[in-house]
Amino acid sequence: MGWSRQRKISTQSLVFLQCLDAWKDVSKSHDFKRIEREERRLKRMDEVVEWRDFGAGCPPEGKSRKSSVSSMARAASSDRRKGQWLMAAARAAQQADRPPLRMLELGTCLGSGGDYLLSGAPKGTFYMGLEGSASLADWTQRRLQWHVDAGSDVHIQTGPFERTLPALIASKTTFDVVFLDGCHEGQVLLGQWREIQPLLSPDFIVVVDDIRWSKDMHAAWLELCSEPQVAALDVFRMGILIPNRKSGPSSEAVRVAWHQRA
Ligand SMILES: C[S@@+](CC[C@H](N)C(=O)[O-])C[C@H]1O[C@@H](n2cnc3c(N)ncnc32)[C@H](O)[C@@H]1O
Repeated sequence: MGWSRQRKISTQSLVFLQCLDAWKDVSKSHDFKRIEREERRLKRMDEVVEWRDFGAGCPPEGKSRKSSVSSMARAASSDRRKGQWLMAAARAAQQADRPPLRMLELGTCLGSGGDYLLSGAPKGTFYMGLEGSASLADWTQRRLQWHVDAGSDVHIQTGPFERTLPALIASKTTFDVVFLDGCHEGQVLLGQWREIQPLLSPDFIVVVDDIRWSKDMHAAWLELCSEPQVAALDVFRMGILIPNRKSGPSSEAVRVAWHQRA
C-alpha cells in the first residue's frame, strides 16, 4: 500500500506514540547536536578507507574496495532524519524497572547508527555491533569510545554476518532494540528477521532500514508487516516493528505525518 493510503498513527499505538514523543524531544538534545557536528566533519574528510564489501555477488571473504570517508558518510551512514528515529527508538525502549538496555546493530559502517542509538540510551547500555569490514569496525569502535567513557558497554564483532550472527545466537544474548541495516536485499532481510527471533526480548523494538530502497526491500518490509506477531510503524525510509499485543491477525502498518518521516 502507498504511503499516503496508510492509516496515521493513533492513540491505540502506545509504544509508537512513545517513539513519536521521544522523536520530538531528542532533536533538542546536546547529543543530537554533537552528532550533527561529527557528521559534518566526516562529510568533509578526504581520508580513504579500504574496506571489504560483503554485498550481493561478492566472495565469502568479501571484495576489497576503497572509498573516501566523506562518500561513506554521505551514502552509507545514517543521516540526521534516520538518526532521530534511532535515538527515539532507544529512548522509547527504556523502562524504569528494566535492567540496562541491550541493543544490536547489523552493519555499523562508520558508527553513525551506533552513535545515535547509544545517545538515546541510558548509561550502562550494552551495545553489540556486527560489521563485516575490519577497517569499518575500527572506525565504529573509535567513534563509540565516547559512549564507553560515559559508561556504556560497547562490543563490535568483525566478520560476515553469516559467521557472526550464528555465534551471537548461540550465545543466547537478548536484545531490546535491534537495527537491521546490513544488507539491502529483501530475501536477506527476511532471513535475518527469522534468525534474530530467539534474540528478541518480549518488548523488542526492531528498526529496519531502507524499506523503500528497492521494490524488493519494500516487498520484504510488507511481508514483515503481515506477520501476526508484530505491529509496524512506517517512517518512510525506515520501518519500526514491535510485538503485536492484540489477538488475531496483524493490523496494517501505521505511518507518521509527512514532516516526521525519516
Ligand atoms: C548501510 S551500511 C550501515 C550504516 C550504519 N548502520 C549507520 O547507521 O550508519 C551497511 C554496513 O553493513 C556491512 N555489511 C553489509 N553486508 C554485510 C555482511 N554480509 N556481513 C557483515 N557486514 C556486512 C557493510 O560493511 C556496511 O558497513
